[in-house]
Amino acid sequence: MLLKGKVGLVTGGGDGIGRATCVMFAKDGAKVAVADVRLAAAEKTVMMIRDAGGEAIAIEADVADETAVKAMVDKTVETFGRLDCACNNAAGAGGFNPVQEVEADRWDHCHNVTLKGVWLCLKYEIPAMLDNGGGAIVNIASLSGVRGEALQAPYSAAKGGVIALTRTAAAENAQKGIRVNAVNPGGILTRAIKAYFEKVPGAKEHTAGTHAMRRLGKPEEIADAVCYLCSDRASFITGHSLNVDGGIMVNPHTI
Ligand SMILES: NC(=O)c1ccc[n+]([C@@H]2O[C@H](COP(=O)([O-])OP(=O)(O)OC[C@H]3O[C@@H](n4cnc5c(N)ncnc54)[C@H](O)[C@@H]3O)[C@@H](O)[C@H]2O)c1
Repeated sequence: MLLKGKVGLVTGGGDGIGRATCVMFAKDGAKVAVADVRLAAAEKTVMMIRDAGGEAIAIEADVADETAVKAMVDKTVETFGRLDCACNNAAGAGGFNPVQEVEADRWDHCHNVTLKGVWLCLKYEIPAMLDNGGGAIVNIASLSGVRGEALQAPYSAAKGGVIALTRTAAAENAQKGIRVNAVNPGGILTRAIKAYFEKVPGAKEHTAGTHAMRRLGKPEEIADAVCYLCSDRASFITGHSLNVDGGIMVNPHTI
């Protein structure tokens, strides 16, 4: 029970990595605010948590909308009395195009959700955590933000921004009891990636082959890292971005 007695908030909690993180937060003893732009999806996650005996609420929130993000944090604190752990997970798609062919509205949408959304969450989560003496935040970034990714300029640039924002927020809050870290997932089997694999023959095997472990990850493997970084067991870790990637960053083609 890594998070016993704590209150957690997860954005994009209605599916994939966000849902797995909500469920893992609850299993680890936290009460959970499940936020998503799709309320019905957040409610489904809440039902999963309640069916397993946990406590959770669903909140409809678009992380790109400042009013909605403020209301999301306020609702969490009103309901559960405090905020201890947050996972800023929601991101927006940026399409697949060479740099010079990216449309400006696609760039703006991706950055509004993926980068500005994380900043807005930090803007309201940090004061709420300061009110109860501290907390821990994990932003979900990506390997694309570390090494770049051909044909994914808006997404890679936004995720690189999330990593820099993580370090900045960590530096500002290190002496105030708030730790801020990021997790960089490798290829994780969630809905969008599964749909892509169904459309493109051989893509699953190819993508798996870029990981030294020759497989894709499960959402729960990201959730595990988030829970650890949110817990007191990670008490001396801040400003870090942790690759949870089955070895993408080591050369998988040497053996
Ligand atoms: N799946 C992967 O392989 C992978 C790899 C690297 C990084 N990531 C990152 O992990 C995170 C989760 O990805 P996933 O694959 O689980 O996605 P997903 O599509 O399975 O789930 C994302 C959830 O976020 C919600 N959402 C979308 N826009 C939102 C908004 N504006 N406000 C609030 N909620 C919103 C969606 O409704 C959905 O429930 C993202 O930050 C993504 O960039 C995923």
